[in-house]
Amino acid sequence: MYKIMKQNNILFLTILSILLFSSCKHTENNIITNDLITVIESQYELLFESIQSEKNTKKFLPRNNIKGEIGYIPTYDWTSGFYPGSLWEIYNLTKNEIWKKRALDYTERMESVKFFTNNHDIGFMIGCSFGNAIKTLKTTKYDAIIVQAATSLASRYRAKIGVIQSWNKGSKWSCPVIIDNMMNLELLFHATRISGDSTYYNIAIRHANNTLKNHFREDSSSYHVLDYDLESGAIVARNTHQGYADESAWARGQSWGLYGFTVMYRETKDTRYLEQAVKIANFIKNHPNLPEDQIPYWDFNVKAEKDTPRDASAAAITASALLELCTYVDEDSNKIYKDWAIEIIRALSSKAYLAEKGTNNGFLLKHSVGSLPHNSEINAAINYADYYYLEALNRLKI
Ligand code: GLY
Repeated sequence: MYKIMKQNNILFLTILSILLFSSCKHTENNIITNDLITVIESQYELLFESIQSEKNTKKFLPRNNIKGEIGYIPTYDWTSGFYPGSLWEIYNLTKNEIWKKRALDYTERMESVKFFTNNHDIGFMIGCSFGNAIKTLKTTKYDAIIVQAATSLASRYRAKIGVIQSWNKGSKWSCPVIIDNMMNLELLFHATRISGDSTYYNIAIRHANNTLKNHFREDSSSYHVLDYDLESGAIVARNTHQGYADESAWARGQSWGLYGFTVMYRETKDTRYLEQAVKIANFIKNHPNLPEDQIPYWDFNVKAEKDTPRDASAAAITASALLELCTYVDEDSNKIYKDWAIEIIRALSSKAYLAEKGTNNGFLLKHSVGSLPHNSEINAAINYADYYYLEALNRLKI
């Protein structure tokens, strides 16, 4: 009798642990649940099928969902790397081979971008596609693409000033440099590691140092656009392009700075970069205009009203950056930044921001803002919001 009871107990405990293990497989912080994974896979399946049914073969890279229509972009749009990048992130989350196959296909269709020199965005384009392929597959197959892309980016380096010129000379600015440009520097570090050529590394350092010196205000918020004189290197103007005002803190710009300086610390271990990242994080966290759910308005200086658009993309970038930043700080700060990142991801994973299965044309997040002053992509689904949300989920999972 005792023996039978003992056997039953063992059987009961075995079943219990199998049940617990399988339900915990995706339950880190109760965010990455099997339900969430199902929503992500079915949404991206829907988006994938829509792309396949598109007759125009040039329309293969989706950027946004506006008024029920998928907006497509050419490979030279600054957001072209985010769809392949999201496919890599979904593969990393699920280990479902179908996403790897698709990620590889879409990444390889981006190869010609390695020669792109018309603006600074090649870091986003090549980093999110080929950079993720290299990280995921641990392959050297695409190394030459990274080095060529970094060479293209370096062609925009203005040695006299020590910055990479973001956009070409136009009627308003002669050498504009935007805070977003911090995101392109990772490509340069990658190229130095592959090639052994420190030129790329040194360009990244000089650009970051000048950004650190010139782009930030007393309160650690950043200007969006700085215009330099190409001859003298003097700062001619401090403006905005996508923000509310020249003196305001455009939400996504603050996130790009946070992410960019966190990467700078990862790559150099120079504590000045870590201090800057911490200052930016604290600026965002303590801002009186940050809504309770931690998803910022499109600009920190806009009037907070019921209908003021939020920018889910800025929140996703911040969350992903915080999950890296928290690994470089002391135990107390680690907890603060990690808990905050989880709070943001939890909000983004709620019904308020995450699309329901079968809606949003397959994109994951609702409520991002591309450029409000240009009346473009307001309250929309945008591919980079999905990308950084997925990256944050992967960083949370590790
Ligand atoms: N880099 C352009 C943007 O963030 O909208």
